[in-house]
Formats: sequence, C-alpha cells, structure tokens
Amino acid sequence: MTAAPIRALVAGNWKMNGTTAALREPRLLAAMLKGVKLKCDVLVCPPATILRRAKAVMKGSKIRVGGQDCHAAASGAHTGDISADMLKDAGASMVIVGHSERRTNHKETDAEVLAKAKAVHRAGLTAIICIGETLEERKAGKTLEVLTAQIKGSVPAESNAGNTVVAYEPVWAIGTGLTPTTAEVAEAHTHIRAELEKAMGAEGSQTRILYGGSVKPSNAAELMSAANVNGALVGGASLKAADFIGIIKTYM
Ligand code: PGA
Repeated sequence: MTAAPIRALVAGNWKMNGTTAALREPRLLAAMLKGVKLKCDVLVCPPATILRRAKAVMKGSKIRVGGQDCHAAASGAHTGDISADMLKDAGASMVIVGHSERRTNHKETDAEVLAKAKAVHRAGLTAIICIGETLEERKAGKTLEVLTAQIKGSVPAESNAGNTVVAYEPVWAIGTGLTPTTAEVAEAHTHIRAELEKAMGAEGSQTRILYGGSVKPSNAAELMSAANVNGALVGGASLKAADFIGIIKTYM
C-alpha cells in the first residue's frame, strides 16, 4: 500500500521574543512568499500578545499563526494563563504544547501535556506536541525509550493526522547550534512513526513529524531529507524573515 504523501509544515516558534516592532518580520515574510508555490504549510507562533496583529499583517497570505502553549481548561480562575479557545479567538489554528522549555521551566509532566493537547483538540485546533530526549538520556542509550514513553503519555488516543503534529526536539539541540546526524534524526523519526501507527493506526502514518533543534538555512535541507521528517519546528532562525525563508526554501 502506498500512502499519500504528507504535506510538510515549517513552523516558527518565537518563544518570548517580539513586540509590535517585530511585526515587520511576518509582514516581510508574507511579501517574500507572495505568488510562491510552496510544497509546505507555514506557521508563525509569535507571543500571544501580538498574535492577532501578526495574523493581520500577513492577511491574504496562506501563512498561519499559532500559540506557544495553552492551559488545559477552557476558562476559569487561572491568573496569567491563556486557553486554547482564547488563542483560537485571536486567530490561531495550531498550538504548541509540551515544549521542552515548558517541561523544564514549568515542570510540565506528560499528563499535563496530554491534557493541554486535548484542550487544543476541543477548541478545534491542531496540537503540535513536542517530545525529545536530554543529553543524559541519549548518552545512556535511552532515546527511543524516552520517545515511546512521551508519546504514550502525551499524545491523546483520539488524535488524528489533521489535529495533531508531533515535533521531535532533542533537548540538547535546542538553541545550542548542535544537531543530531541525519542518521540519528532518521532513527528517531522512524521510531516515532512506528509508535504513532501503533497508537493511532492509519492516522499515525499520515501524522506530520517535525524535527526541531538548531534548524537554520544551512542545515535545513539535510535535516529535512532524513526519513520520516515532515518539516521543521524552528526557534531562533524563525525570528528574522530572511533566515526563516531560507528554511522554507527547502520546500519550494
Ligand atoms: P532553536 O529552537 O531552533 O532555536 O534551536 C527550537 C525550538 O525550541 O523549537
């Protein structure tokens, strides 16, 4: 059986960067991509404070906007938190959950990430669920085991290829300039694919698996060429349109 090709996704995670002045970048990106036939979807996840305006400055383009995290509840007494419904209301079509910075800085567990992913689904949005091993875990030969546990713990059973994207982000590769070899990326992604097929059946074979961690224009083509890589989750190199487009070019 030959499966339909999976449409790639290149997503930018701005993290806690960007005020009004930064809106020039998505505006520029939309202008650069005008009339370009892309073989991937493009997503920009700015801080929630400028989400709506980022969407507005890219109006008329196919670039989507997303959130970087959400609360597991739809509303309530949760000072400072933002729900998936609120992100949707601001224009988001996807929400990142379980990013390693959330798992580390906010001690988020797989169970909490699972609850957040379910909240994203309930809001009718797509969850980008991040998983990945630490350097210690990789050195101990536990990478695949860790990925299996994170998939079992944080990917909702009722997920489908439309409402779920999995991002493999080795913790040691995030913001460090270090990247796994193409063979290591292929090994992890092929393992994730098999686990998703076990958990989600046929939907698992169509679910996008992104690679994230120090992706930049100079290494994107090679990282994206690894087996079962269906796009990228980009941090630092998504902040400037000129860099981000260098990664998107992999799919032009
Ligand atoms: P980086 O971040 O591209 O800056 O390494 C990736 C991420 O955290 O999603």
